[in-house]
Amino acid sequence: MTDVTSPAYTGPRRVFSGMQPTGGLHLGNYLGALVKFVRLQDDNECLYCIVDLHAITVDHDPKTLQQQCREVAAAYIAAGVDPERSIIFVQSAVLAHTELAWIFNCVARMGWLQRMTQFKDKAGKNAERMSVGLFDYPVLQAADILAYKGTHVPVGEDQKQHLELSRDIAAKFNNDFNAPGFFPLPEPLIQGPGARIMSLRDGKKKMSKSDPSDMSRINLTDDADAIANKLKRATTDSLPIPDTVEALEGRAEVENLVGIYAALSGETPAQVLGVWGGQGFAAFKPALADLAAAKLAPIADEMRRLLADPAALDRTLRHGAERAHAIAAPIMDDVRRIVGLWGPGR
Ligand code: TRP
Repeated sequence: MTDVTSPAYTGPRRVFSGMQPTGGLHLGNYLGALVKFVRLQDDNECLYCIVDLHAITVDHDPKTLQQQCREVAAAYIAAGVDPERSIIFVQSAVLAHTELAWIFNCVARMGWLQRMTQFKDKAGKNAERMSVGLFDYPVLQAADILAYKGTHVPVGEDQKQHLELSRDIAAKFNNDFNAPGFFPLPEPLIQGPGARIMSLRDGKKKMSKSDPSDMSRINLTDDADAIANKLKRATTDSLPIPDTVEALEGRAEVENLVGIYAALSGETPAQVLGVWGGQGFAAFKPALADLAAAKLAPIADEMRRLLADPAALDRTLRHGAERAHAIAAPIMDDVRRIVGLWGPGR
């Protein structure tokens, strides 16, 4: 990877990502996002946001939202995100997000948003009754990233289209306001072993907190018994585990379990199959359960410890918001000048 994400952008490389505080983090969040967040800290300046403004695009409970933000913060830290090296903060604590989202609303085109498949999936037949905010969700996401001139965005496969929209907005802003290279064109970072963790019941659906069946997912706070029970009952087929990655084709549930094993053990799926090929699930599932429990137990313990002192967690988040604001403020001064706005305090 290079430092330059668009021919004209010459600013520093900066990682930005966000997670919604909608409660119930699971193995998919851990392997798909948190593990990557931790690794990226080694050679990047990273901002990891808890996106409460995105959470209010659908019905939410105001009484629990703040606590859910603390839970995500605790998960970030427990998984290994270092709040001194990286910037951990809540989106609504930094006003640049909403201001830049409004400006980007005037850059993005209706047609671009109408093509967003995630809105269509979430709204289904009820698009007319969804909030304007849900429709506008990807514009706020672009503002999140670009308020910091984020260049690299670790996300899941399902966020690729939103990242394309962020690039389109950045490019149109740079072009329309004759500010070549002002915003970078942010790139998704999707690759990685845990890129796609699927439901334990249906290998074609993503592991998700919105799945009505708790048996479909391993929560970060599940204990060893719960993990063993869920894996025992996870959907598989009656064939033995294959020897080669090619032979996983068409066996989505098996591919998923092998993928989870590989991501947790730090091996490749081929290495896992080298050991387990030819064996049955009666042996594999308990081994996977032990591995998952061993990885998740210390994270759950640390989350509990952090959540027991909400004042300390809130101080950490305030510190993060101050550092985030310090990066965004001069960028927003430039944005207002470029667009011809007045701005606060003038
Ligand atoms: N839409 C992302 C998701 O559902 C969350 C998100 C909001 C995000 N803003 C972001 C991710 C900015 C990366 C960058 O997963």
